[in-house]
Amino acid sequence: MVNIVEAIQARRSTRAYDNAPLTAEDHDAVAQFIAQTAPPFGVQARVELIHHDFGMERQKLGSYGSVKGACDFMGLIHRPGPLAAEGAAYWFEQVVLHCTSLGLGTCWLAGFTHSSFSKHVTLEADEKLAYASPVGYVGGVKPLFERLKLFDSEKAHITKKPFETLFLRPDGSGLTAAEAGRYAEPLELTRIAPSAKNQQPFRVMLDGERLHFYAMDGLFAHTDLGIAMCHFEQSARFLGIEGGFEVLPDAPGGPDLEYVISWV
Ligand SMILES: Cc1cc2nc3c(=O)[nH]c(=O)nc-3n(C[C@H](O)[C@H](O)[C@H](O)COP(=O)(O)O)c2cc1C
Repeated sequence: MVNIVEAIQARRSTRAYDNAPLTAEDHDAVAQFIAQTAPPFGVQARVELIHHDFGMERQKLGSYGSVKGACDFMGLIHRPGPLAAEGAAYWFEQVVLHCTSLGLGTCWLAGFTHSSFSKHVTLEADEKLAYASPVGYVGGVKPLFERLKLFDSEKAHITKKPFETLFLRPDGSGLTAAEAGRYAEPLELTRIAPSAKNQQPFRVMLDGERLHFYAMDGLFAHTDLGIAMCHFEQSARFLGIEGGFEVLPDAPGGPDLEYVISWV
């Protein structure tokens, strides 16, 4: 079984690859994981593996940054519907974390993704190619998972917002890790989730034993929240914390916070 905590700690956005296609073994392992999993909340989505060699030049494939040496990609395609952005992002992040556990580099790409990749997939009328990620070998050397584990994740994730900013008490003030109790570890693993421009436009409020998840303003806020939900739920389950996501009719609101779902 994949250690999801280690995968979350080891993952980081990789923008330089060695231009080698995925080995048949790695390709099959990724394809198999995609086939065996599905988005939560009944969301209709699919992940396509796309092979296209963009060469060794840096390419602007997303809305910012550039990617070099990638020739295999994953495209996330979904249909509109309730919790579509969150559910699709949750699942794509599960795939991303599985790639990390296989020693493969990834990087969420948004914005211009559609024009970069749409000719490689066939979309039905209401489908959208929402995001993509390169998947491949970092910098010419396959970064074995064992080697990735040597990263000091505390230092590697230094650019993320502090715990007390992302996680709240019911009155909206900052929650400390000590106050979070058994939720401290899954919340810390939520804190280090990837987000567009590293803006982390989500908040989680601890309310007794329940946690309320909120999106803030921003183009990708509901996607970033779905990724955060994935990190929270997958690590909570791995750590033996029981519960699940549910939309509550009576969840508290807050300034600049759009309520989405709770963990109960
Ligand atoms: C929805 C989403 C869209 C993103 N779009 C891009 C992009 O277009 N170009 C890029 O270089 N990185 C993109 N990223 C990667 C973020 O910049 C990255 O996750 C963030 O800086 C945190 O770094 P880390 O992933 O290494 O923890 C995106 C991430 C997310 C979640």
